Parts: sequence; structure tokens; C-alpha cells
Amino acid sequence: MSGVIKGVRAREFAERAGKNDFSYVTEVLLKLIKADKKQKILDLCAGSGNLIPFISDKAGEIVAVDASEEMIKIMDERFSDEISTGSVKTVLADAEKLPFDDKEFDKVIIKFSVHHLSDVSKVFDECYRVLKDDGEMVIIDMVFDSSVFFRILEPFWRLRKMMKHGMHEYGCKYRSIGKLEKIFTDSGFVVDKKVKVKKESKRFKDKHYPTYIYLLKVAPLLPTGNW
Ligand SMILES: C[S@@+](CC[C@H](N)C(=O)[O-])C[C@H]1O[C@@H](n2cnc3c(N)ncnc32)[C@H](O)[C@@H]1O
Repeated sequence: MSGVIKGVRAREFAERAGKNDFSYVTEVLLKLIKADKKQKILDLCAGSGNLIPFISDKAGEIVAVDASEEMIKIMDERFSDEISTGSVKTVLADAEKLPFDDKEFDKVIIKFSVHHLSDVSKVFDECYRVLKDDGEMVIIDMVFDSSVFFRILEPFWRLRKMMKHGMHEYGCKYRSIGKLEKIFTDSGFVVDKKVKVKKESKRFKDKHYPTYIYLLKVAPLLPTGNW
């Protein structure tokens, strides 16, 4: 496992995330997902749990996973009431090897974390495994057009982010739409909906970050055997 934000950096990140207003993304997300009180939702790479307040009244149970002890500690403090009633559970785990049974979840949400993952395919295979047959997955991340221009621009973009936010950005990998969508389909998902969050939103502090929200469905397995 690599690309995990640890220690002091984790707390710095949590503070930074807390200052930014990401509700514009959450508004779109909430329109896309149809959760209900019977559903079990996996908030993967949950960080300090910024998503939890938005979805807690829409799910039966939220399981928030992060590979950073520091993030788990922050969530345990922040959601102690919900944890005591059992509506929220925090789990320290690597997204590449989830400690859950097959088909355990109705939904998996992964917000602003795909670019931190070192092996996205492994993580998506795991998401596919833990989702029910009619399960859905939502990905929110910065994704770029599949152009030569982007490929040239990406290292400079990362350098700029490193200078602004610190060395942990070095491990980040920003992907093109084509690359990311191939990873989805290779893991067995189909793209149901794709929304580009408007750049011109006044609340969108970093105006040039092209954020996409994908709603993926678990693709039905084709029958195997002789034809
Ligand atoms: C940018 S934060 C996003 C947090 C949260 N989803 C949000 O939107 O505020 C990325 C998080 O991914 C976690 N992370 C990175 N790699 C991971 C992995 N392999 N398994 C689990 N968590 C991971 C980091 O510890 C960090 O908390």
C-alpha cells in the first residue's frame, strides 16, 4: 500500500478539507444516489468523514474506511454519537484489500481520493466484489480530457499542487477520462451517469479543477460455458 496520508499531514489535510466548501459536489451526488434507510453504504477513503453528515440520514449504516489511523481518530471523535448508535462505523483498512464479505454493500462512494490511490484497478476490483448485484458506485474526482495537451500539462499541474499543498501531492496521479473509464469497465462496471461539475460555480474555489461525478453500476456477469 502506498499513497496513504499519515500523521501530521493527515490532520493538516483534514483541516484544509474542512475549510473548503465542497457542498456543490455533494448536492449533485445526493441527486444521483437513491439511498434509503435499509442500505449499507461504504464511504471509501473517507478521510475525516466530510461526506458522512450529508448522507447519514439517507442510509441505514455508513461504513467509513480509511488507511490512515489519524483520519480514523478524527472520525471517531467527530461521529462518536453516530458510532455509539451503530449508524456509523469506522474501519482502518487498505482499499486494495477490504475486510468485508462479497456483496455486502448497496453503495460505495469514493470522493476526491482516486488520485491518491497507487493501484486503482485493485481498489475497483475490491469495490466490485463487495457490492451487491444491483449495487452502485459513485466516484467524485478530478478527471481530465484525454488530450495530448493534458498529458503535457499534468506534471506541471502536479508540481503546482505540490508547491501549494505539500509533498504528499507527489504521490498523486491525475488521470484522463479515457484511462479512468477503462479502469471502471475492466473491473466490471458500466457508466450509468457522468456529470461534470460546472467550473464557473462561484463556490468552486479552484476554478480550473475539472471535477467529474460518475455513477457506476455493477455490470451483470455474462453466462459462461460452451456456446
Ligand atoms: C483527499 S482525502 C479524501 C477524503 C474524503 N473522501 C473527502 O472527500 O474529504 C484522501 C483519503 O484517502 C485515504 N487513502 C489513500 N490511499 C488509501 C488506501 N489505499 N486505502 C484507504 N484509504 C486511502 C487517505 O488516507 C485520505 O484520507
